[in-house]
Amino acid sequence: MSETINILVGSMTGTAEMVAEDMQATIEEVSDHSVEMLLMDDLDASVFERDGVFLLVTSTYGQGEVPDNALDFYESISDGKPDLSAVRFGIFGLGDSTYADTFNFGGKLFEEILKAQGATLIGERLQHNASGADLPEEAGVEWIKDWIARLESAEAAA
Ligand SMILES: Cc1cc2nc3c(=O)[nH]c(=O)nc-3n(C[C@H](O)[C@H](O)[C@H](O)COP(=O)(O)O)c2cc1C
Repeated sequence: MSETINILVGSMTGTAEMVAEDMQATIEEVSDHSVEMLLMDDLDASVFERDGVFLLVTSTYGQGEVPDNALDFYESISDGKPDLSAVRFGIFGLGDSTYADTFNFGGKLFEEILKAQGATLIGERLQHNASGADLPEEAGVEWIKDWIARLESAEAAA
C-alpha cells in the first residue's frame, strides 16, 4: 500500500533537516510512498490528523531537550493530550555521546510522549551519535530503507 510519509523535522543547526532531505530522496527512489517534509516550527498536535504515517527526525539540545523549533510542538502534545491511538510513527534521533547523561533525549522525549498518547512506534528509534564514525545522512539513508521495509511488513500483517 502506498501512503504518505510525513517527515517532521526538529533541528537547531540544520543537520536533522539535511538527513530528512536525504531520507525523502531515498523513500522516493525505493518505494511508491509519497513524502511531505515539515519543519516542526509551526506545528501543533493537529498535524497528526493528516493521512499517512509520521517520521520524526530530531536532534537534542540544552540539557537533553528537544531543539527550540520543536518546543511548541512538543508542548502542544504534552499539554493537549490528544488521542493518538491511530498514529503510527518512527523516530530518527540525533545527539552526541559527549552529552552522556542526556544522549539522544530529544528523540527519546518524543517517543515517550507519543506512546503515552497511544501512538504506535514502527521499528526502533535510531540514536545517531555525532561523535561516532558514521555520517548522519549516511546512517539516515540506511535506516530509512529498513524502516520502510518494517512499515510495509506491518501493513501486510494488518
Ligand atoms: C549546545 C548544544 C547542546 C547539545 N545537547 C545535547 C544533549 O543534551 N544530548 C545529545 O545527545 N546531544 C546534544 N547535542 C548534540 C546535537 O544534538 C547534535 O550535534 C545534532 O547532530 C545536531 O543536529 P541539528 O543540527 O539538526 O540540530 C547538543 C549540541 C549543542 C551544540
